[in-house]
Amino acid sequence: MKILLLAGDGIGPEIMVEAEKVLAVLALPVTLDRALVGGAAYAATGHPLPPETLDKAKAADAILFGAVGDPRFDNVERHLRPEQAILGLRAALGLFANLRPAKMFAGLEDASALRPEVASAIDLLIVRELNGDVYFGEKGTRTTADGQREGYDVMAYSESEVRRIAHVAFRAAQGRNKRLCSVDKANVLETSQLWRDVVIEVAAEYPDVTLTHMYVDNAAMQLVRNPGQFDVVVTGNLFGDILSDQASMCVGSIGLLASASLSEGKQGLYEPIHGSAPDIAGKGVANPLAMILSLAMLLRHSGGDEASAARIETAVAKVLADGCRGADLGGDMGTTALGDAVVSALNNQTHG
Ligand code: IPM
Ligand code: MG
Repeated sequence: MKILLLAGDGIGPEIMVEAEKVLAVLALPVTLDRALVGGAAYAATGHPLPPETLDKAKAADAILFGAVGDPRFDNVERHLRPEQAILGLRAALGLFANLRPAKMFAGLEDASALRPEVASAIDLLIVRELNGDVYFGEKGTRTTADGQREGYDVMAYSESEVRRIAHVAFRAAQGRNKRLCSVDKANVLETSQLWRDVVIEVAAEYPDVTLTHMYVDNAAMQLVRNPGQFDVVVTGNLFGDILSDQASMCVGSIGLLASASLSEGKQGLYEPIHGSAPDIAGKGVANPLAMILSLAMLLRHSGGDEASAARIETAVAKVLADGCRGADLGGDMGTTALGDAVVSALNNQTHG
């Protein structure tokens, strides 16, 4: 398997180092390559997703991605901003299905923003559509009839876009507790009404899955009121972006959530759901666990190596159960120490 490592900006490089340590322990037959992406690529080449990086990404079986975003480049033209690198990769590689699992780790109930008894029930998967919606619709600024500036971003979903993400979500539900909640805003948005109609059509092919629908405002509320009610949630790009950040705090820290971005084939891009966290970059305090868990998802989905994925997840759970905590969870372990703890948990598995 050819893996491309795209560390990116901010804390990306330092957490990538820890994922590489974990990969090294597993001693799998993989080849690694690296390339610049995001602000780092813009600084070096004038573009956040240079052709060389895109070519390497297309040639890779899987991409492990750190984070992009750099306040130094907040004011460059939109198409050159660091964030365009990840959006460009998602579009160019057809990575339409974003899986964002959120599960409470034993021992972390007290770290959740929710009461422990509410938080302990969390075991959900957000399936976020990643190639459409306002993210990729026509956008711009224009002048209104009365001379004001006006910004616009078109929200649109075609039925084939909804259908393919619905299939991913129904299949995911079949592999879990067979409950799927489709989140939309069909009481207001035409895009959402079509979304809902198509999801209902697709449901006919999955009689074993119980489908429900929820408006996104209610979903945001239910996610903190009673997150244990959710099994699989399927939603559009924008709602999924927001709800997945919210879900992360329900399990204790945004530094714990991994994600897989999948195409129709086996190729995928794997990244923590958090960003580049420029405020803590270079300080050695970033939580590397979401990055390490993203590697597990990579091995599972693109590598077909469930055993290695499960080993990593077990090691991370062990480290957390043992009380290892970084600053994000009120502890004092740094990035390297947390990575070392996972490595040693893995080594103990091998010898135990
Ligand atoms: C995410 C991020 C990205 C998004 C940004 C960096 C463009 O917030 O992956 O959730 O909005 O999709
Ligand atoms: Mg986000």
